Amino acid sequence: MADARVHKGVIPAAGLGTRLLPATKVVPKELLPLIDVPVIQLAVDEARASGIDDLIVVTSRGKEILADHFDRQPELEAHLRERGKLEQLAAVGDVGAGVRFHYTRQPEPRGLGHAVLQAAAHVGHEPFAVLLPDDVMLGPRPVLAQLLDHWRPGFAVVAVMRVAREEAGRYGIVAGDVAPGSRAFRVEHIVEKPAPADVPPVAWAVMGRYVLDADVFDILETLPPGAGGEIQLTDALAELARAGRLVAVAYEGERYDMGDKLGYVKAIITHGLERPDFRDRLAAYLRSLADAGRF
Ligand code: G1P
Repeated sequence: MADARVHKGVIPAAGLGTRLLPATKVVPKELLPLIDVPVIQLAVDEARASGIDDLIVVTSRGKEILADHFDRQPELEAHLRERGKLEQLAAVGDVGAGVRFHYTRQPEPRGLGHAVLQAAAHVGHEPFAVLLPDDVMLGPRPVLAQLLDHWRPGFAVVAVMRVAREEAGRYGIVAGDVAPGSRAFRVEHIVEKPAPADVPPVAWAVMGRYVLDADVFDILETLPPGAGGEIQLTDALAELARAGRLVAVAYEGERYDMGDKLGYVKAIITHGLERPDFRDRLAAYLRSLADAGRF
């Protein structure tokens, strides 16, 4: 009998981060920070705040350092304690606290669906969440918690945001629409990275948060390569949509694409403006730049 509560999560983190080279030559893109918080940690914090206490991170060769980040560092902690640096000690101690971490590898880059499939043995027969750390979600409420509000056993839920037709080719695009006063809707169909001509002027695009039932693994196992020659999670979702089992949630919040240089800078600034310890000084600096005619 499947657990009716979602407490497991999968974080695909096997990508090479080629769009942010040379920064990602040695450092995994998931460890690039918004000020002092690695983006993967933001995804972990979101998962934790949404009730997830067990995460499996799907990595690839050369990304072992991701596991180090979520491990304890007794020497560092002792050093900070001895010097009375209690704020830093608390920050270090909080990294991943309350979550059990597991790691597995995707042996070759064969797509998001294939990456998620690597977590099948660990997830077993339970429903689970998927969080793509490249999609940085900022805002007052954890996006995954918003998805879980609309999740029921047997259904899959995806986070969606409106995008212009010209951008649709970068995303999974869903057909269906919200009723007035509602944020969730049944997805009629879903396509990975469609051609602009096949998309309405404004479309609903999937952003990297999902709640899935374990039977998605059975679908993923049988899928042929899809868009870009990769095993696409979207193609598995298309099968669920055909069975009337896919729900989209137009979440509240902002999403920034870490894979994109400008998206990364925007995320840093917005995150800085959301932080009480940083906000005033950053805002004053941005104003001074504008006043000085620097942009
Ligand atoms: C993946 C998914 C896509 C989704 C996107 C969100 O694409 O395949 O459906 O819209 O994440 O960021 P990728 O960014 O890996 O190309």
